[in-house]
Amino acid sequence: VKVLLTGASGQLGRELAYSRPQGVNLVAVTSAQLDIADASQVDAILAEVAPQIILNAAAYTAVDRAEAEEARALEVNATGVANLSIAARRLGSRLIHVSTDFVFDGGGATPYRPADATGPVSAYGRTKLAGERSALETLGDRATVIRTSWLYSAHGRNFVATMLDLMADREALQVVDDQTGSPTWAALLARCLWRMSSRPDLHGLWHWADGGSCTWFEFARSIQSLALERGLLDLEIPIEAVTTAEFPTPAARPGYSVLDTSATYDALDLEPVPWRDALGRMLDEMRERAASR
Ligand SMILES: NC(=O)c1ccc[n+]([C@@H]2O[C@H](COP(=O)([O-])OP(=O)(O)OC[C@H]3O[C@@H](n4cnc5c(N)ncnc54)[C@H](OP(=O)(O)O)[C@@H]3O)[C@@H](O)[C@H]2O)c1
Repeated sequence: VKVLLTGASGQLGRELAYSRPQGVNLVAVTSAQLDIADASQVDAILAEVAPQIILNAAAYTAVDRAEAEEARALEVNATGVANLSIAARRLGSRLIHVSTDFVFDGGGATPYRPADATGPVSAYGRTKLAGERSALETLGDRATVIRTSWLYSAHGRNFVATMLDLMADREALQVVDDQTGSPTWAALLARCLWRMSSRPDLHGLWHWADGGSCTWFEFARSIQSLALERGLLDLEIPIEAVTTAEFPTPAARPGYSVLDTSATYDALDLEPVPWRDALGRMLDEMRERAASR
């Protein structure tokens, strides 16, 4: 099977490239090789590669910056996905596209199902919602859209990497304790996407996250304790729980954005890995990499 991977140098893109299954002929392109917002570049690369499947890990992901740059975020997250979808339709390819829990307004109190009403509260969320609609409308049953949440990996910038840096540098930290979601290890999302790639019957909207949920404060506390256990941090520092109101950011974020992932795990015959176990496995990988340097 020939697969074109876009956004190959992002945290998810790298996990997808590492975990390429046997028998997949993977053509992985970074943003420098393909700007998905440029329709002529998309058309040219798709005509040249002629993939059966496009895995789109490219996105404008700077949630706060998107408030000031919504037009650019839209170009990547909506126009870029439309470009891929139109080219995929022409070739008869499938598109597997990744979206976000930030399409929801966060006013719920039980996990969001794929068909639940959306209502993004940020520019980033609006542009991602436009992108998923474009894929589904253009490609019908050749589009698979997987929403995920709170993604991290051993590569690239993410909440875990930021926390580890701050915990090594600062004497104390404040972390918000009134936003609830599900941390998700990009390596496990990559495994889900590869399984999805071999299942053309699984089209439409799906949710994927690791098992359970927590607040950012609880996530930070687990990062600290699991990193201390592994010698990735030397000293414990106090972490204080604060409210979103005390810690304003340019973009609003949903207060509650836990995804109901049960249909996806059932369809793929997988069991959710509890988020704290997945975090421990990722930190093990970080420790091994640090030791081998
Ligand atoms: N991170 C999260 O917490 C989170 C949560 C939910 C959903 N998601 C979704 O998960 C997917 C993967 O996110 P991630 O965390 O892996 O993001 P990431 O690390 O920021 O990677 C995104 C990649 O897209 C590339 N890119 C940006 N603009 C592009 C363009 N115009 N054309 C081609 N490539 C472009 C970036 O390249 P440059 O670095 O060169 O710009 C980067 O390599 C995205 O769809 C994201 O919306 C992420």
